[in-house]
Amino acid sequence: MKYYIKTYGCQFNYSDSERVSAVLESAGLKRAKNHLCADLILFNTCSIRQTAEDRVYGTMVNMAKLKKIRPHLRIGITGCMVKRSSTKKSLKPDPLVKNMDDVDFVFRIEDSARLPQLLKETGLEVPHETPDEFDNGTLKNYFKINPKYSSQFQAFVPIATGCDKFCAYCIVPFTRGREKSRPMEEIWEECEKLVKNGCKEITLLGQNVDSYGLSFLDRNEKRFASLNVGEKIYFTRLLEELDKLKTKGLRRVRWTSPHPKDMTDDVIEAVATLETQMPYIHLPVQAGSNVMLRKMNRPYTREHYIKLIEKIRHRIPDCAISTDIVIGFCGETEKMFEETCELFEQARWDMAYISQYSMRRFTAAYKTMKDDVPRKEKERRWHRLNKILTRISHEKHKEFIGKTVEVLVEKCVKGICEGRSEHFKRTQFKGGKNLIGQIVPVKITDALAWNLIGELI
Ligand code: SAH
Ligand code: SF4
Ligand code: F3S
Repeated sequence: MKYYIKTYGCQFNYSDSERVSAVLESAGLKRAKNHLCADLILFNTCSIRQTAEDRVYGTMVNMAKLKKIRPHLRIGITGCMVKRSSTKKSLKPDPLVKNMDDVDFVFRIEDSARLPQLLKETGLEVPHETPDEFDNGTLKNYFKINPKYSSQFQAFVPIATGCDKFCAYCIVPFTRGREKSRPMEEIWEECEKLVKNGCKEITLLGQNVDSYGLSFLDRNEKRFASLNVGEKIYFTRLLEELDKLKTKGLRRVRWTSPHPKDMTDDVIEAVATLETQMPYIHLPVQAGSNVMLRKMNRPYTREHYIKLIEKIRHRIPDCAISTDIVIGFCGETEKMFEETCELFEQARWDMAYISQYSMRRFTAAYKTMKDDVPRKEKERRWHRLNKILTRISHEKHKEFIGKTVEVLVEKCVKGICEGRSEHFKRTQFKGGKNLIGQIVPVKITDALAWNLIGELI
């Protein structure tokens, strides 16, 4: 019996799929090379924009065809589109399983441990019983699942899930629920095991990594912590603890995403001083206009953000910084958009992930605002920003020519190795497959808009 998982969305979903794989394999299923030879196909879905959901609905047409040829095939959906774990027979089925003929079951990611049970309810007998720890699908148990990591030398490790920030446009607090941090000992244990098995780079995941630990506090303490009064130490302490794993072979600890509001000096200091911290920070700003930021419920101003990146660059002069932008949000005028363009020139981000606003159900914007920037205009603004980004990114890359960077080699195709440098720059150079998983010095000889070219030293 074979399974295939198709994953959409952010790193969180990729990490979740590794845990789902572990549950399926412990029940005796084997990974299929592709969806055509699988007995079970799972879609790990994303809701962040309508296009992300539409992609899943589109694929279902092909699944219907596949099911006609292979009637025993089971189709399941998980991830951010799912509200309630259920099969077609459940008393209150999730709309996805109720309304789509070819979907046999859906499950919430925190219910992954219940997966073998759900499969049985759809008439698919799993090869063997799963261990006790998978009996009760609570979130705590979910994190205890030992993932089937897709790489030996790089890993995603979730440190918190959910989000309490409720940005007006964003569905994540409704799909992933309230913010909950994972106990530090549990994270440490997972990381230690990874490093013992040869892992060199760990990426810590959370919707707001720099508020890690706040969910351990009571309401009163949280109020002070969120005002940055008192000592906010949890995230930094975690980074310091994990840094100790360098003696066992851990070389890099990355994390994504922080929130500008919680990016305190101690975090910047940790990046500047800890050996395993890399000179790269992804710091989502979302918009360059203060009016937009306020409407988005992002609790900082453009001026505050600029000061923050100045502080980072002052303490860590070569630090690469990237961002997320939403354009065409409700009421964004040409003038407000111009402010975002100006911020690009001022911030000179190394990279920016630019999204066109897509209205999401449940959000504050959905309830109280109007999605009034036409689609064509959103596209135009997207192209305009992308042009600025391409130019700046290219200029920034040229600064690396002649310098030597360290690359963790991820793949090698036809004699060309590729991996990320300390600054998270995609770097390519001539080399062999034997270098995969190694960190090697590369002298940069050329710079393109989106990657660096170099020679192995
Ligand atoms: N927690 C992270 C990112 C989560 S979602 C953070 O706050 O940075 C990733 C990105 O998707 C967001 O940063 C935002 O730029 C984008 N996004 C979220 N909701 C969106 C929506 N409704 N339409 C378009 N882009 C959206
Ligand atoms: Fe969404 Fe805002 Fe939370 Fe990020 S911080 S996940 S954008 S609500
Ligand atoms: Fe998408 Fe869910 Fe991530 S909505 S971006 S997969 S948290």
